[in-house]
Amino acid sequence: MSRRRVAALISGRGSNMAALLAAAEDPDYPATIALVLSNRADAAGLAHAAARGVPTAVVESRAFPRDRAGFEAAMEAEFARHGIETIALAGFMRLLTEGFVARWEGRLVNIHPSLLPAFPGLDTHARALAAGVLLHGCTVHLVSAGVDEGPIIAQAAVPVLPDDTEAVLAARVLAEEHRIYPAALAWLAAGRVSLAGGRAVVAGVAPAAGALANPLPSVPALPKR
Ligand code: GRF
Repeated sequence: MSRRRVAALISGRGSNMAALLAAAEDPDYPATIALVLSNRADAAGLAHAAARGVPTAVVESRAFPRDRAGFEAAMEAEFARHGIETIALAGFMRLLTEGFVARWEGRLVNIHPSLLPAFPGLDTHARALAAGVLLHGCTVHLVSAGVDEGPIIAQAAVPVLPDDTEAVLAARVLAEEHRIYPAALAWLAAGRVSLAGGRAVVAGVAPAAGALANPLPSVPALPKR
């Protein structure tokens, strides 16, 4: 089996990248993380990747002020050097140009910490708490030109609980990110994701059974007379 050569792009902690690396340690996983690239030299995730023998690269976005195309060209030189076929954005905090997105269409995937199309952009957990939603979650999607837009491959929902802080909610969502991102990347790498009418369709997956409701709609006990 030839494994799809994936670059994981990070800007910081890199826990999603670490989840992808862990999944790809299985020889039957259809992708290999052939490069971890950061736009910041101080990204903590770089050390994690290097410690596991994964090639790393830094292309400092700061070195390309007002030149996103130049920044992307420098990244693409690294991708070419490492034979990269697919890109997994994993906490990569730079916006990409339309040209870049078009060149990598169908081969560029992102994880976002909300149930898109709710809460695109930053501070998703604080915004979910402020909005009072009772279900929140994360989304893996193919990247198209808009910010946090594109065909959805997988989502996971979690309940928002009464005492949640932003940090507690973020951790609950992050645990689900680490479950769905490796799965979604595997489907993409195995060629099981196709587009139909602008939506992503995954072949050969079991849809979720049942539903998640929060609060649980159990019938409350009648008050005693
Ligand atoms: C994650 O919540 C991801 O969904 C978002 O940025 C965060 C990155 O975390 N895009 P990590 O670097 O993967 O730990």
